[in-house]
Amino acid sequence: DFSSNVKSKTITLTIDGNEVTVPEGTSLLRAAALNGIMIPKLCATDSLEPFGSCRLCLVEIEGKRGYPASCTTLAEQGMKVKTYSQRLAKLRRNVMELYISDHPLDCLMCPVDGDCELQDMAGAVGLRDVRYGFSGKNHLKSEKDKTNPYFTFDPAKCIVCFRCVRACDEIQGTLALTARHRGFDSIITPGPTHEFLSSECVSCGACVMACPTAALIENKVIEKGLPLKTTITTCAYCGVGCSFEVQ
Ligand code: FES
Repeated sequence: DFSSNVKSKTITLTIDGNEVTVPEGTSLLRAAALNGIMIPKLCATDSLEPFGSCRLCLVEIEGKRGYPASCTTLAEQGMKVKTYSQRLAKLRRNVMELYISDHPLDCLMCPVDGDCELQDMAGAVGLRDVRYGFSGKNHLKSEKDKTNPYFTFDPAKCIVCFRCVRACDEIQGTLALTARHRGFDSIITPGPTHEFLSSECVSCGACVMACPTAALIENKVIEKGLPLKTTITTCAYCGVGCSFEVQ
């Protein structure tokens, strides 16, 4: 959300015909959200630096070519931004279609059914059909990593948004995760062993918190289902001050 760049100076721009004023250094995604306009997104979160990989948050800017990602584009004085048009809606549906084409369609059996950002965004962009798909026989994505006692990694459900990699780096500073291969084979992996338990992972859970699907999921959610209530608190066991969700 560019929060570290935010300065006291403000700028005024137009979003969907509404004049809005935001602090200089604010991203278009954040400027829209501050003014009640929710742009679809998957790779951006408030707790991580903008990354611009999912291409869902595309917008139109008057006088500029193309469709920039609003999470990585800073608001500028006098900018005229459109967050919705027929063209943007189609682009977002097409992007989401590609994600879903490489994702198991077992939502009703999934432990996070009803609490899944991928599912929410598919609904938000109006995706109804997927015209093409992967065979689902990718051996690289068939094996779950259950080595960590607290959480499970299911690569078949990973959309390679890098939120877990960035959380491990930016929140925990551990750099335990990376990506390997390309295309349908691309996969997030704990290096260098490719197993969470024997990797540099310190089981802080930042990656699990950051995951927008069920690719990284707490074992107790698999065993007992989603909690009825959660709260954000600060871990009392060390001086780092990590905030985390408790059930
Ligand atoms: Fe902007 Fe993913 S949220 S590219």
